[in-house]
Amino acid sequence: MPEPLTARAGTESCEPFYLAAGNEVALFEQCHARQLAVMLKGPTGCGKTRFIEHMAWRLQRPLITIACHDDLSASDLIGRFLIRHDGTVWQDGPLTRAVREGAICYLDEVVEARQDTVVVLHPLTDYRRMLPIDKTGETLEAAPGFQLVVSYNPGYQRMLKDLKPSTRQRFVALDFDFPPLQAEVAIVEREGGANHATAHALVTLGQRLRGLQDRGLAEVPSTRLLIAAARLIANGIPEREACRAAIVAPLSDEATLVDAMRDLVDASFI
Ligand SMILES: Nc1ncnc2c1ncn2[C@@H]1O[C@H](COP(=O)(O)OP(=O)(O)OP(=O)(O)O)[C@@H](O)[C@H]1O
Ligand SMILES: [Mg+2]
Repeated sequence: MPEPLTARAGTESCEPFYLAAGNEVALFEQCHARQLAVMLKGPTGCGKTRFIEHMAWRLQRPLITIACHDDLSASDLIGRFLIRHDGTVWQDGPLTRAVREGAICYLDEVVEARQDTVVVLHPLTDYRRMLPIDKTGETLEAAPGFQLVVSYNPGYQRMLKDLKPSTRQRFVALDFDFPPLQAEVAIVEREGGANHATAHALVTLGQRLRGLQDRGLAEVPSTRLLIAAARLIANGIPEREACRAAIVAPLSDEATLVDAMRDLVDASFI
């Protein structure tokens, strides 16, 4: 059985840069203090992961991230017995570790996980904050500071997969979207290492490309893509070439849409 992809962070000394769009920092702090589980909703590349890294740092909690996929089982989250040469030992899964340590447990793209895996989270989200471990007969009470956070991209595969109401209604949902122009320029400038004029041109281009959604562009450029283009430009790649490679090509293979996007790139960087 593969271990789920997990990562630990949160207690770094250096602050992960996050530029707030509204009241999300205060709202999340309240949810943390009131032991409420949180769902971060929003399109890919709009800052959800960066936000949770920033919040873990602010609250000085360890952050355990689990990338969800459709093979993820309850045992991958909770733990399993391992057979060794000297006997059988229990090994905690990442969710159990977070419950014991009082960490923030971030389940990325929770909609990818199967329902029978997701239900494991339910007893942790009600007031008892319990994690039953069937295989050992133990029931753990979550340590203070433990918080369950999930991310969810509402547009993505919406027709195929969705969360059950009994899951959704266990979370306070924070809506994320691409930042307003000046904020996104500041982010692209800082994260992409580009100068202000280039960052401004990239964000303006990004906004125009997002307008193509009405003309059939299924995936619009995220802040992440604009940052990738900025990095290439900052390191000497010509602007149009950088935009074609880092923004246009990842978004579509359809010739008419690619042509329309290239025209917008050419108009943005004359
Ligand atoms: N508000 C913000 N403040 C600082 N950086 C941001 C912000 N929004 C986006 N970014 C930048 O955009 C990049 C992509 O954001 P992030 O990885 O957090 O997206 P995401 O919403 O988690 O996407 P996905 O759904 O694909 O996981 C970050 O690495 C960061 O550089
Ligand atoms: Mg993410």
